[in-house]
Amino acid sequence: MAPRPTHRNPTPPPIDPSIPGLAARRAAATAVATLLGPARGLALEDALAQSGRGLNLEPGDAALARAIATASFRRLGFLTAALEERLRDGLPQKTDLLALLVTGSAQILDLAVADHAAVDLSVRLAKADPQLTHLAPLVNAVLRRIVRERDDIRAAESDPLARNTPDWLAKRWIATYGEEAAQKIAAAHLEGAALDVTVRDDAEAWAEKLGGRRLALGSLRLEGREAVAGLPGYDEGAWWVQDAAAALPVRLLAPQPGERVADLCAAPGGKTAQVAAAGAHVTAVDRSAARLERLQRNLERLKLSAEIVTADALDLPEDKPFDAVLLDAPCSATGTIRRHPDVAWTKSEADIIRLAGLQRRLLDKAARLTIPGGRLVYCTCSLEPEEGPTQIADFLARNGEFERLPLDSERVGGHAELIDPNGDLRTLPSHLGGGSGRGGGLDGFFGSLLRRRV
Ligand SMILES: C[S@@+](CC[C@H](N)C(=O)[O-])C[C@H]1O[C@@H](n2cnc3c(N)ncnc32)[C@H](O)[C@@H]1O
Repeated sequence: MAPRPTHRNPTPPPIDPSIPGLAARRAAATAVATLLGPARGLALEDALAQSGRGLNLEPGDAALARAIATASFRRLGFLTAALEERLRDGLPQKTDLLALLVTGSAQILDLAVADHAAVDLSVRLAKADPQLTHLAPLVNAVLRRIVRERDDIRAAESDPLARNTPDWLAKRWIATYGEEAAQKIAAAHLEGAALDVTVRDDAEAWAEKLGGRRLALGSLRLEGREAVAGLPGYDEGAWWVQDAAAALPVRLLAPQPGERVADLCAAPGGKTAQVAAAGAHVTAVDRSAARLERLQRNLERLKLSAEIVTADALDLPEDKPFDAVLLDAPCSATGTIRRHPDVAWTKSEADIIRLAGLQRRLLDKAARLTIPGGRLVYCTCSLEPEEGPTQIADFLARNGEFERLPLDSERVGGHAELIDPNGDLRTLPSHLGGGSGRGGGLDGFFGSLLRRRV
């Protein structure tokens, strides 16, 4: 789907707060319109925070808004194709109208909400907007047709790589992984992600208490979708939420008790917690003070400690290098599309190129912060080669002082398929059965373990 022009209503008109579920639909539709329109770089989470402001959403409504907006992006290609076939003049140019139709059809096709609520509340939102009110009958007619033709629409949903992935990303993944693997990645994106947690000690006992499954990778996988804060062990800090793949880079680094470790892009702190829990002295650096506040709160709950430094990692002094350095670099995040499907539709090739430049500078800085004989782990949650293997090949070519320590499968619970031909970590959403409809999958992470020669 091509980027939309800027036909947006800057301040959405007021709605009747007494109608149950209307504010949640408004928050979802406004956030989706924002991301389909000019603010393409924004994350859905931030767009929802903006659109929810002033609507006084109850927690249940905020959760519904998030579910609707997420479902809209998860199947955006399929949804827009279904709409296009049912609109005489094709997809609307007005992003507000398109967002109403997309969020309405996502509710009908993918969420367990009543059809009449999905249709009627979308129509009400159209009527409440002076710029769309004359189009309310169109919204009504199209969404009713989606309800009637639901089975046919679902049956036609095939080939998620060609039909539910932006072209530029599909081409990249085919070039990088081959057609078959790219198909599996796109299929895994339709499934969403399980809830994985990293446990401090006694994973066996916590697996039982939480009703979770122990993965060979070390994490626990929980099947339910309960509110995390209500689960046993949360308040006492026995575990934290972290995708099983996101927990692997620290397993590569293998921090030892008493070691000095720098975590250069640390917030919100899942990896800092792992390093601290291993008994190392961790310096957690991030340039975002707001995100470091979250890290601080997370560590407090887990009763772990770290030296927290609010700084651009590129500006850190180099006079006291570290035994080990973790660089979980800012990246395009295309490995997290199962969780954040908006990423596929809001990021661009230019983002990848720009971020690869920043990663290169951060990696050179991380190298200067590593003692001779020390370890450096570079990782990203990206599927793109520029943010993974190419970055490391270039780094090794310009830094003769460093060598790669190729991984063996024991580091990753015996899953040899998670290690690429160079010996680096390469997880895919389709690994561990992702895309097979059985709740498998992993975030797409790249990681390389490097050593500074003595
Ligand atoms: C991928 S996230 C880190 C996730 C974190 N390691 C975890 O496991 O919870 C990347 C982080 O890098 C931070 N960041 C981006 N550029 C930075 C820079 N130049 N210096 C320090 N932090 C930076 C961002 O604020 C963001 O929190």
